[in-house]
Amino acid sequence: MERAAIDVDGLSKRFGSLVALDRLTFEVRPGEVFGLLGPNGAGKTTVIRILTTILHPSAGRAEVLGHDVVREAAVVRRLIGLAGQYAAVDPNLTGRENLRLIGRLTRLARSRIRPRASALLHRFDLAAAADRPVRTYSGGMRRRLDVAAALVAEPPLLFLDEPTTGLDPQSRNALWELIRELVSDGTTVLLTTQHLEEADQLAERIVVVDEGRLIADDTPAALKAHLGNTVIELDMGDRRHAVTAAATIEGRLGETAEIEGSRLRLPCRSAFGLLRGILNLLEADGLAPRNVTVRESSLDDVFLALTGHRTRTGPATAGGRE
Ligand SMILES: Nc1ncnc2c1ncn2[C@@H]1O[C@H](COP(=O)(O)OP(=O)(O)OP(=O)(O)O)[C@@H](O)[C@H]1O
Ligand SMILES: [Mg+2]
Repeated sequence: MERAAIDVDGLSKRFGSLVALDRLTFEVRPGEVFGLLGPNGAGKTTVIRILTTILHPSAGRAEVLGHDVVREAAVVRRLIGLAGQYAAVDPNLTGRENLRLIGRLTRLARSRIRPRASALLHRFDLAAAADRPVRTYSGGMRRRLDVAAALVAEPPLLFLDEPTTGLDPQSRNALWELIRELVSDGTTVLLTTQHLEEADQLAERIVVVDEGRLIADDTPAALKAHLGNTVIELDMGDRRHAVTAAATIEGRLGETAEIEGSRLRLPCRSAFGLLRGILNLLEADGLAPRNVTVRESSLDDVFLALTGHRTRTGPATAGGRE
């Protein structure tokens, strides 16, 4: 069998009395994009810090490209690139200076540093801004430079911690495209995200982590198939109407809705037929919803399905729950 690119076995990390990681076990295959999905505080950055040798685990072990992250930390460091959650580039240097500095720090051959920096600046669409200080870059440009910086040494394995957080949809799509290109060149990528859609777009396999524990290890397609791709939400105005509407939908269409305050929530595979049926039915009963939303399943929906509770930062709790 081909050796795993990353092999994590019973990995735990405690910070004082806080258990940040609780016996995580998973494997990343060479050449795949592997997604680590979880809400704030799930332990994503802690996993990346351990795998990139910045932190020591409290228990368990992890190997990166066949090397133990504790005993062979120096070897591991030479084989990986990391674009951390917080920008690691110097804002007072230009984009080009940052990449060259990293080339020197990673002991890239002198003759290769300049061409490598130029090639990356082109590839990440930063050539025009290459000689401006990074503090003048937009958020999207900084994020692209971060990923470029992680690639200077041409690592076979790349860690990206929430690579698209804070980016507008256009910059996010551009970065997704770049990540896909890297993978087609043979790079293995482990990325973290809080967005199911991002994992779905990029990753062949994902693990879902909740408070340091692994709660799912699957393909995005399988997770979505289990959940339904789409969620219909109906705001019925008040809880009494929501309860009546849910009973009507269940009785006549055989679909079970979850009730949350005045809202009904129905995960489904295809929204259109169902939505038409629901609206016709409710209208006939004088129960027109105040508001209707159709959206893609989110991390929050995955959590609800897997754990029976929402993420602590999910939409229902963010604004104070009814
Ligand atoms: N150095 C540290 N000292 C103490 N507690 C820590 C430390 N680093 C992380 N933690 C705690 O460990 C838990 C996991 O944190 P981590 O940064 O790994 O989460 P995350 O999944 O990356 O979250 P986010 O999505 O917010 O980046 C959190 O409860 C956090 O407060
Ligand atoms: Mg993090």
